Amino acid sequence: MEEAAGGQQAPGRRLAGRVLLYSSLILNAVLLARHHFFLLGAGGDDGNGGSSCRLSWALQAAREAESVAAVDCSGHGRVFLDGVAGEDGRPWCECNTCFSGPDCSLRTPNCTADADSGDPLFLEPYWRRHAAAGAVVFSGWHRMSYFTTDAFFQSVELENQIRQLHRAVGNAVVDGKHLVFGTGSFQLINALVYALSPDAGDATSPPARVVATAPYYPAYKLQTAMFDGWEYEWGGTTLDWANASRNSSVDGGDFIEFVTSPNNPDTQIRKAVLGGSMAVFDHAYYWPHFAPIPSPADEDIMLFTMTKLSGHAGSRFGWAFIRDDKVAKRTYEYVQSNIMGASRDTQLRMLGIIKVMLANLHGEDDIFAFGHDVMRSRWRRLNAVVSRWSRRISLQKIPPQYCTYFKRIREPSPAYAWVKCEREEDEDCHEALLKGNIISREGGRYGASSRYTRMSLLKTDDDFDVLLERIADLVNAEKYEAPGSSSI
Ligand SMILES: Cc1ncc(COP(=O)(O)O)c(C=O)c1O
Repeated sequence: MEEAAGGQQAPGRRLAGRVLLYSSLILNAVLLARHHFFLLGAGGDDGNGGSSCRLSWALQAAREAESVAAVDCSGHGRVFLDGVAGEDGRPWCECNTCFSGPDCSLRTPNCTADADSGDPLFLEPYWRRHAAAGAVVFSGWHRMSYFTTDAFFQSVELENQIRQLHRAVGNAVVDGKHLVFGTGSFQLINALVYALSPDAGDATSPPARVVATAPYYPAYKLQTAMFDGWEYEWGGTTLDWANASRNSSVDGGDFIEFVTSPNNPDTQIRKAVLGGSMAVFDHAYYWPHFAPIPSPADEDIMLFTMTKLSGHAGSRFGWAFIRDDKVAKRTYEYVQSNIMGASRDTQLRMLGIIKVMLANLHGEDDIFAFGHDVMRSRWRRLNAVVSRWSRRISLQKIPPQYCTYFKRIREPSPAYAWVKCEREEDEDCHEALLKGNIISREGGRYGASSRYTRMSLLKTDDDFDVLLERIADLVNAEKYEAPGSSSI
């Protein structure tokens, strides 16, 4: 009976089922069309006369940005919005070193490895993976004024986010310190030299001496010599002064000591050498992807740069934390007179980038975990070839160390290899490597012996792979050499 009754109701149920199915399909189609319609910028009002769901003027720019980003250039290059336009009016692929062709698919055989510059492109894949979060869209009338909020040249919100990032990472004590932005920390080097030197009107004070311990980052010397103010001069390495009593030092004059920690080029953790000097601590590499963070740095003057933090070297953005009011004021005045503050467009982009980093700390998409993995693997691979097999060249030794950010002992992941040529005849290590088709940066530029040279490990995967190939060639050649001969 029940079966019969059920059987009689079946056509009715089937009909109801179909009606339900079709109405659900129609509803979905309507919702999809609406969604599409909104995305294309022609959707209806949100009911409040606003346009919260609609995109209009940003659409064209977003489409262009996505269309160039979508070109893959065989994984060995990229297209930029402002790239040189080809015959079709569209920008070309810009290829990584050692790759060429319209789509960068051609590998140059026996290509020379270029390990010269500290271009931090190892982080490019991170931002490709986080394309949505890292994208910044702004209007043609965004911050056209010279001034930002409260008539300053600095974004207050960016200041807040930078402080928050340092607190969350635990690499610097930021409370009780002024924050001054610069066009890269490069600009802040001379800004700080100016701020710490005697006043221009004070003819009684001898010039301050700008010094650093070798091997030192060359920009300190270059900039001091280039800007050539009478208030300061390049004083050479700290070694020249360390033994002289500062009070009896020839003709007086204060020292401005640049202390890079971890150091570029050799990754050593550094302290000021000249007691009582005015020290500027350059912490460009004091982030967990490059170095362990045993405790927050708390010096009076600390320099940081976005270049090595997020990899955005081209945006040119750095900052200084300064405890002393007068020094901070003079540094700010320098930046003001020099460039009227760091680019507002850059500040906005940096704000977005820092927010992404902050939101992902300790998560799956933590930029420091990503960066550390890449750099640790490069260091391991390089060591596996050099330290195990080569008697001709050696690398700096870096022990694993506990890091408060990762809450574990972390393996080394330096930005640079500080290479020493061990053979007597390889006095000029840079030249010796050049013969092996490796471009490095001469030790002499760091105030060190020419027996040393720096290889950058920060660039693209392609750059690193080519570098490793050339190093392997060089090490292999050792096996076939008669003792005492040099073929690189
Ligand atoms: C120690 C050190 N300080 C400062 C800088 C400059 O960084 P920026 O790109 O912000 O000018 C670098 C760049 O390589 C560096 O290695």
